[in-house]
Amino acid sequence: MKYIFDAAFLPCEALKEHDVRIVVDLLRASTQITTFFDCGGTLLVPVREVEEAFAAKERLGKEWMIMGERGGLPAPGFDFGNSPLELMQKGAPEKAVITTSNGTGALMRAAEGCPRVTAGCARNAEAVCWDALCSGTRTGIICAGRNGEFSLEDTVCAGMLIEKLLALAPANGASEMELTDGAMAALALWHHMGPDLAAVCRESAHGRILSGLGFDNDVFFCTETDESSSVPLLKEMEGLTVIVGR
Ligand code: MLT
Repeated sequence: MKYIFDAAFLPCEALKEHDVRIVVDLLRASTQITTFFDCGGTLLVPVREVEEAFAAKERLGKEWMIMGERGGLPAPGFDFGNSPLELMQKGAPEKAVITTSNGTGALMRAAEGCPRVTAGCARNAEAVCWDALCSGTRTGIICAGRNGEFSLEDTVCAGMLIEKLLALAPANGASEMELTDGAMAALALWHHMGPDLAAVCRESAHGRILSGLGFDNDVFFCTETDESSSVPLLKEMEGLTVIVGR
């Protein structure tokens, strides 16, 4: 069986055909979503805009919490920010609507023309790679980027996931593996800058912004690898796009 592994540096690229797409927003949306399920949350509704989040809560009921950020901080009226450590400390709400500057939009974009979309990060790296290998032979890693720009930490993390896919695929029946140019570039960046993801994040533009906002501990938490077995999966449920944990 031949596997093809691909990486896109931004969700707005012309995306190739994939059986499964792993969306990576290391700092912090995909880590936040993974941690939500680790902390007992059951259902998330991702939306692009702040107004959509309030409208969704209005429609779904007041037991739904609103979670996310703008400029790294919770927007006025939000119940939770986008801090995975906040979830670890307070516990996750059972159901929440989430909107973040880049991550939730990247998930929606990845769902266009792809049957399976998951959220991947360092914490669930191995789990999300296994899920992809068991779901098809063409995996695309979609980096969320930052405001339409390349994001160093997402791409280095994508390279780490490519390395894991290459290592795990033979045990899942791979006799041949091909990397696209994007996957080769992400892997080369991981080989060049890894394996200290925390150092990469501290150097990166977004890491520095989060640090300036006092989120150093969040940044470190986001770089811990293989701590979670949650695989957040995008699904259509009663006309709504939701994320469930697996
Ligand atoms: C995003 O979607 O851009 C982020 O997750 C931002 C953040 O948490 O600071």
